[in-house]
Amino acid sequence: MSSETEKQGPFYITTAIDYANGAPHLGHAYEKVLTDVIARFQRLQGRRVHFLTGLDEHGQKVQQNALARGIPPQQACDETAALFLQLLRDLGISNDDYLRTTQPRHKNIVQQLLQQLFDAGLIYKAEYTGFYSVRQEQFVLEKDKLEDGSWPEIFGDVTPVTESNYFFRLSRYQPWLVEYLNTHPDFIFPKFRQKQVLEFLKEPINDLCISRPKERLTWGIELPFDPAFVTYVWFDALVNYYSAVAEKGFWPADAHVIGKDILVPPHAVYWPCMLNALGLALPRQLIVHGWWTISGSKASKSAGNALNSLDLAKLYGADVFRYYVIREMNVGQDSDFSAEQFKIRYRTDLGNDLGNLLNRLLNMGGRYAAGKTPDAALGASPEPPERELRELWAATAPEYLQLAAGYQFHTALETLWNFIRAMNRYTEHRAPWKLGKSADPADRTRLEVCLAHIAEGLRLTAVALSPVMPEVAAKIQQNIGLAPADSFAGQLDWSGKCAGATLAEKAILFPPVEEPATEATTGTQQAK
Ligand code: ME8
Ligand code: MG
Repeated sequence: MSSETEKQGPFYITTAIDYANGAPHLGHAYEKVLTDVIARFQRLQGRRVHFLTGLDEHGQKVQQNALARGIPPQQACDETAALFLQLLRDLGISNDDYLRTTQPRHKNIVQQLLQQLFDAGLIYKAEYTGFYSVRQEQFVLEKDKLEDGSWPEIFGDVTPVTESNYFFRLSRYQPWLVEYLNTHPDFIFPKFRQKQVLEFLKEPINDLCISRPKERLTWGIELPFDPAFVTYVWFDALVNYYSAVAEKGFWPADAHVIGKDILVPPHAVYWPCMLNALGLALPRQLIVHGWWTISGSKASKSAGNALNSLDLAKLYGADVFRYYVIREMNVGQDSDFSAEQFKIRYRTDLGNDLGNLLNRLLNMGGRYAAGKTPDAALGASPEPPERELRELWAATAPEYLQLAAGYQFHTALETLWNFIRAMNRYTEHRAPWKLGKSADPADRTRLEVCLAHIAEGLRLTAVALSPVMPEVAAKIQQNIGLAPADSFAGQLDWSGKCAGATLAEKAILFPPVEEPATEATTGTQQAK
């Protein structure tokens, strides 16, 4: 690691902070799970972790929605915060902090940083004449018009405006930013996104308007040097990553996990330039995931199609949802959420492959080994089936860790499941239910070796799987008589740790799920 990335304190990772103007949806859920998986991998690898997520509460839409409902914006935000906090619990998210942009700790830092930039002459006031899109909360230009002279649909109502505002000297930092990106090729994951940012930076960028007059927007953080204005949403929202840890000394962040729609310009242009102007270090990496669609259309509150996918999370449990999204999504690409595919993975990967293997072990352990794992996981001279299984694990473990380190979680899980399936084949090949009926002492030894190998293979699987499926991993470990491992250290090598451990009588990890008739249709195509 270069000296720039050396710092005191934990591995500091963040999600985007969700807009308070809508309920949680699949995109929000996925981003939390992805970040949680990365955080848990880091913890298991011995890093202290600080995991931040939160809520982006200011802005015109929040103000308008609250007004329309006849309630104060803070009350509307409190209601939304409760939904998002419940989502975190429902998904087993291990965040260490939750920042809301209405909290004084955040507002104070935003004002402090604004004042610092103002004092340094990096924020100035200017008159602006142009057009404003309420829906996008941004100024738009003549050049944004369609060929027929109308405004693109995404802008909603566009009104002409002339007003004074404050601007941050963003354009000044463009050459520096280009240079930074060229010398830090790993700043943005995946790499093709970094190229897109450089492409964007080929055109000159404008200074950034960072204020809104209070006549138009009161629901924001007041500019410390001019109380007639509040801060524009991005200057407020981006600062959350810093304000949450300013006093803890955890800055800079190791990773900001965000969706592709908020990379350019907010996270890849505004934020680095703001930090540079403030004399603060840049985050080490932006991890940019793609979009979930549901039956082809983007999952979002406006599409109204995303809540059903979260119903599946409630119905099948957090870990099943976590497994599905992490197994399906190639981080950086888009993916389509299919309730059909969700249920197929539940029945096959989880039920048939993993759940069944544990069942077989508990069942046969009870029948043939008095409910304890025999002490034979490291038999002195292994026969070919055992040797192959151990060799497969010896190749699987490093590959799994390496793929996870490169955020290739979907292929990491595929690799792990190759091992789980190999264990099922091994079990069928050894057929301990036949060995148990044999009178030959050599078969008795084979039986014990076989049970010990299944138990050890399950132990290793559970430890490796725990960042993605923490509850299931803990259950497997408990069922084979072990305490859940809280570190990978010394836990991912083939060992005799299960020897003599008490097996549970039975466990059904993935029982059949009864779906309520009305909620069974997730997506469009299904009708049972
Ligand atoms: O953008 N698939 O908030 P947000 C995957 N407040 N990810 C998705 C998605 C989808 N269909 N829809 C949204 C904001 N996301 C700002 C962020 S950060 C300083 C301020 C992701 O509620 C989206 O890309 O619209 C973003 O990373 C996160 O959900 C919050 O989106
Ligand atoms: Mg959004």
